[in-house]
Amino acid sequence: MSHPRHIAIIMDGNGRWAEARGQPRHAGHRAGIEPVRVTVRSCGELGIEALTLFAFSSENWRRPPEEIGQLMDLFMDAMEKELPELHGNAVRLQFIGRRESLTVRLQARMAETEAHTAGNQGLKLNIAVGYGGRWDIVQASRALARRCQSGALNAADIDEAALQGELSLQGLPEPDLFIRTGGEQRISNFLLWQLAYTELYFCDTLWPDFDRAAFDAALAFFAGRQRRFGMTGAQAGTA
Ligand code: IPE
Ligand code: IPE
Ligand code: MG
Repeated sequence: MSHPRHIAIIMDGNGRWAEARGQPRHAGHRAGIEPVRVTVRSCGELGIEALTLFAFSSENWRRPPEEIGQLMDLFMDAMEKELPELHGNAVRLQFIGRRESLTVRLQARMAETEAHTAGNQGLKLNIAVGYGGRWDIVQASRALARRCQSGALNAADIDEAALQGELSLQGLPEPDLFIRTGGEQRISNFLLWQLAYTELYFCDTLWPDFDRAAFDAALAFFAGRQRRFGMTGAQAGTA
């Protein structure tokens, strides 16, 4: 079975999971940590190169301050608690997204975690916090504009590779498989540029219930796809 090199996941459905149990929404967010562990371990076992998880979107800032605070506390906590196992498994952690709106403490913890795991050669784990696909394209455009202004780059030389080179996941293969749990079939401003040719998989499982069997079902879906990248089926079959 052919495995994806890079998997991107929208971990959705925490709130509904909690509400269905008569619990506050943050109980669902807490219950969403275990499936992250399971998924990270599974990717490590399978030798998958990169995993990108959507933890908090640029639009999630619109949520009630109380829920935002609980999510930020959870990120702080989880980073501290999970770091030893992640580091032990040679995981390289990186955060993508607009950091300026986060607390200084959280920004510092993120930078420490990245520095601590920077030399690891195992799974490349990217956590998207305060991330938006449109923000990513805008910040990449700004970086290109700066290079043009300084005379290092000609506008006429801007091509797809140049823009890609400034995006958050620059240097990684584009995601082969996208998974969204929780039943909604939308991208919600996740990786807009990078998902151009990604296989899209949606499942009704709420994120806290996402287990190894649910992950294997997504991999089986991926293995059944013929990726044509614009070619004919016959061409792609021999490619
Ligand atoms: C996803 O679960 C986690 C975040 C967006 C932080 P939700 O909190 O969106 O859960 P639902 O969609 O309300 O069930
Ligand atoms: C997307 O989920 C963001 C994350 C999972 C972090 P949302 O639950 O915020 O998405 P919408 O707003 O319902 O599309
Ligand atoms: Mg949701």
